[in-house]
Amino acid sequence: MSKTTPLVRKPAFVFLPPVVAAGVGFALIFQGVSFGAPNFEILEQRRAARVEQGWTPPTLELTDYLYPRLATGFAGSEWVVVNKHRPLSPLDFEPKVREVASSEALDNSRGLELRNVAATALEQMAAEMFSEGVGQLFVNSAYRSYEYQKDLFVSKTEQYGEAEALVRSAKAGYSEHQTGLAVDVSVPAQGCAIMQCFGDTVAGKWIADNSWRFGYIVRYEQDTTAVTGYTYEPWHLRYVGIDIARKYSQDGIHTLEDFWGYPAAENYPEITESTLD
Ligand code: DAL
Ligand code: ZN
Repeated sequence: MSKTTPLVRKPAFVFLPPVVAAGVGFALIFQGVSFGAPNFEILEQRRAARVEQGWTPPTLELTDYLYPRLATGFAGSEWVVVNKHRPLSPLDFEPKVREVASSEALDNSRGLELRNVAATALEQMAAEMFSEGVGQLFVNSAYRSYEYQKDLFVSKTEQYGEAEALVRSAKAGYSEHQTGLAVDVSVPAQGCAIMQCFGDTVAGKWIADNSWRFGYIVRYEQDTTAVTGYTYEPWHLRYVGIDIARKYSQDGIHTLEDFWGYPAAENYPEITESTLD
């Protein structure tokens, strides 16, 4: 004789979980919790707070780079890789920025802005440069909006012609400056402001050797045009965070494309009939 278990419906078990899940979901949405995109500002703030309390971030193992590499596609990530093949998404992305603080070590009389994490790192780097007698750092250019970059590219084209403008300036939506993580610096007392000879000044050499300690890299090094698409810019610093900057420097890497294993991006992709389809 077969024994069958009667099917007993228990409405509370069936209906309660979905109702609770929906309630929690609505509560989170109305509190402004966003799903999908990681909130890098919050992660950075938590990390900075722990560092202030004396925590030393561990050196990363190779596998630890998998997550940052995924984030190289997010405009709001400090690891974002922007080049002629990798426009910002959205193209008119606007980061949250703040004015870089002027001090005896750092002249930001133009009132320029950066993402908080990059501004703090720049202020710390300038303070160390100044205390070592390297001079007062001047902020020539920092965050640039989509519209600003658009006008800049037009004015460079008028000034130098298109071919030269293309290796000097990015098109709107393709500039690291639009991320709020890139800054052009000089030490006016040593001359060569926004000129390649800046790399031969005491300040330029100090920056090339030491900026990694503050999370910056010199993004457009000498002889890397075939990969980056731009000529040598010893004044253009890109904040990538201390972990990446340290590894980049220790491994003797010269471009972010090589660091992450991305293809060279010398030119903008050609627009053909088929790419328009
Ligand atoms: N000068 C750099 C490449 C820029 O315009 O972003
Ligand atoms: Zn620049």
